Amino acid sequence: MREPLIAGNWKMNTNLTEARNLVRAMLGELDGIAHVEKVVCPPFISLPAIKELIKGTSIELGAQNMYFEDKGAYTGEISPLMLVDLCDFVIIGHSERRQHFTETDEIVNKKVKKALDVGLRPVLCVGESLEDNEAGRTDKVITGQVQAALAGVSSTSRLAIAYEPIWAIGTGRAATGKQASATISLIRSTVVSLWDNDTAQAVRILYGGSVTSSNIAEFIAEPEIDGALVGGASLKANEFVSIVNQTAAIKSTQ
Ligand code: PGA
Repeated sequence: MREPLIAGNWKMNTNLTEARNLVRAMLGELDGIAHVEKVVCPPFISLPAIKELIKGTSIELGAQNMYFEDKGAYTGEISPLMLVDLCDFVIIGHSERRQHFTETDEIVNKKVKKALDVGLRPVLCVGESLEDNEAGRTDKVITGQVQAALAGVSSTSRLAIAYEPIWAIGTGRAATGKQASATISLIRSTVVSLWDNDTAQAVRILYGGSVTSSNIAEFIAEPEIDGALVGGASLKANEFVSIVNQTAAIKSTQ
């Protein structure tokens, strides 16, 4: 049985005060929700403060990115070794990084390997563009991204994958539960082909893209979908709490 995972990707939003206020506004309620792993991913500069705030609670922390080298002359980058003391999770290969910061499959692969090597828990993001989707290339693109990102990865025990169709991110146009579930099944079979069935059954695969408290139930009702990577709605305390609450309620009946 895979424990559901709900992660909030705050993206480039909130200064330090706003980040603290957002966590304070949901801390009590979130902490009280059992059987769902709850992760917040604020901007780098807020990680130390949020780490302090969530100490002793069941809420966990993630970063939104990292570089694949340990240290050196990489101005402006954040090393995985700087993150291990601060957080457990790290989002890798988000489509916004692929799009605006030219992250290739090869870079994503290096980052996934490095994150696992240093003991972080990567949330690997994959997703097809609207153009690929409309041309019927979704399966090919997704399979290719998963294979490339996981090439040479030896252990999957700390890995999660998020299927985030690019056309659904920040657009208010979410996939349907059935669409997401079908692609997530494909991702799981790709993981089976890279390792084996037992390994693939243990990897959590999330949906992301315009998830809100109004549509989370549709995704979570699908047994193949193990949780969500939530962007915009994770910036509203009551929305995020509701998403986590509904996930706990629905998954407990599956
Ligand atoms: P969204 O973003 O929920 O705002 O669509 C999701 C994501 O990019 O992870």
